[in-house]
Amino acid sequence: MSFRLQPPAPARPNRCQLFGPGSRPAIFAKMATSAADVVNLDLEDSVSPDDKAAARTNVIAATRDVDWGDKYLSVRINGLDTEWWYRDVVDLLEQAGDRLDQIMIPKVGCAADVYAVDALVTAVERAKGRTRPITLEVIIETAAGIAHVEEIAASSPRLQAMSLGAADFAASMGMQTTGIGGTQENYYMLHEGARHWSDPWHWAQAAIVAACRTHGVLPVDGPFGDFSDDEGFRAQARRSATLGMVGKWAIHPKQVALANEVFTPSEAQVQEAREILAAMAEAKARGEGATTYKGRLVDIASIKQAEGIVRQVERIGG
Ligand code: COA
Ligand code: MG
Repeated sequence: MSFRLQPPAPARPNRCQLFGPGSRPAIFAKMATSAADVVNLDLEDSVSPDDKAAARTNVIAATRDVDWGDKYLSVRINGLDTEWWYRDVVDLLEQAGDRLDQIMIPKVGCAADVYAVDALVTAVERAKGRTRPITLEVIIETAAGIAHVEEIAASSPRLQAMSLGAADFAASMGMQTTGIGGTQENYYMLHEGARHWSDPWHWAQAAIVAACRTHGVLPVDGPFGDFSDDEGFRAQARRSATLGMVGKWAIHPKQVALANEVFTPSEAQVQEAREILAAMAEAKARGEGATTYKGRLVDIASIKQAEGIVRQVERIGG
C-alpha cells in the first residue's frame, strides 16, 4: 500500500437522495418527512427555463421555512454552461438559511469547474460571515466528467459526494439508449444461443468509486427512471452497493424505501461481519494472520471488509 493512507469518506448516512423540482414547493414538506437521508431540491433539469427564478425563490424560502429534521439538505444548481448558475450560488449563499448543508454541481467536466464554484462560495461566505461551510457534491454525467473523474474527486476539501447521472452521461457518450439507468436491451453477450445481459454502467461506476475512495468522497448511484419497476431498481442498486457505492437517488418517493433497503447492510451481513471479526480476534490471539470461517479463508483483509460493514451500520444507527 502507498504510504498515503486512504482518507475516510464523510461519516454520515447517504443511502438515499430524494429529488424534487424547486418549482414544486407543494412537495417540499413531503420530502422533509420522507425516510431519505439526503434531500436534493432541484434548480436544474426538472425546472423549465421560465420557472428558474421562481424555483430559486421557493428553494431559498424552504431552507428557512420547512422543518428538515435531520436531513442532509442539498440544492442542485444549474450547470456552469448556463446563464443561471452564478445567481443560484450567490442568492443561495446570501439568502438561504443556515440549514442549507450542500450545493450539488451538475455536469462537472474538470476540477476547475469545482474550483470556480468553490471560489464563489468562499467569497460569499466571507462577505456574509457564514460560519458553517457549505459542502459540495458533483454529478459525473458527461464524457469529460468521467475522463477527468480523479482530478474532480481531488478538486476541493468541500467535496463530499459524487453521483453518476445515467441519462446525461448516456447522451454525452453517444450511447444508443433512452432509459435512465438499469438493463439496456442491446447490451448482451451470447452464450450457446442464450442472451446474458451485461451492465453498461459498470465501468463508469467502478471509475467513480475508485476516484472517490482515493480522495475520501462518497460514491453515489444516480437516478433510475422507471419508478414503476421496483425489481429493476433493486437490481441496479444491488450492483452499485456491491461495487462500493453508498447510496442511490430516488426520483419518486416510492424509491426511498428500496434504496434504504439495499444500502442498509442486512442483519445477516452484519452478523457474519461480527463473526468474522471474532474469528480473526481468536486467530490473532493464537498468533495467526489467517484462519477458516465456514470452510473459507479469512485473513487480515477480511477484517477491513467486515469492519466496513459494521461501521456502515453504526453510521446508519441500526
Ligand atoms: N418527493 C416527495 N413527494 C413526491 C415527489 C417527490 N419527488 N414526487 C411526488 N410526490 C408525492 C406526490 O405529491 C403525491 O403525494 P400525495 O399522495 O400526497 O398526493 C405522491 O408523492 C404520489 O405522486 P405521483 O402522483 O405518483 O407522482 P407525480 O405525478 O406527482 O410526480 C414525478 C411524478 C416523477 C414528476 C415526480 O415524482 C418528480 O418530479 N420527481 C423528481 C424529479 C426530479 O427532481 N428530477 C431531477 C433529478 S433526476
Ligand atoms: Mg443530469
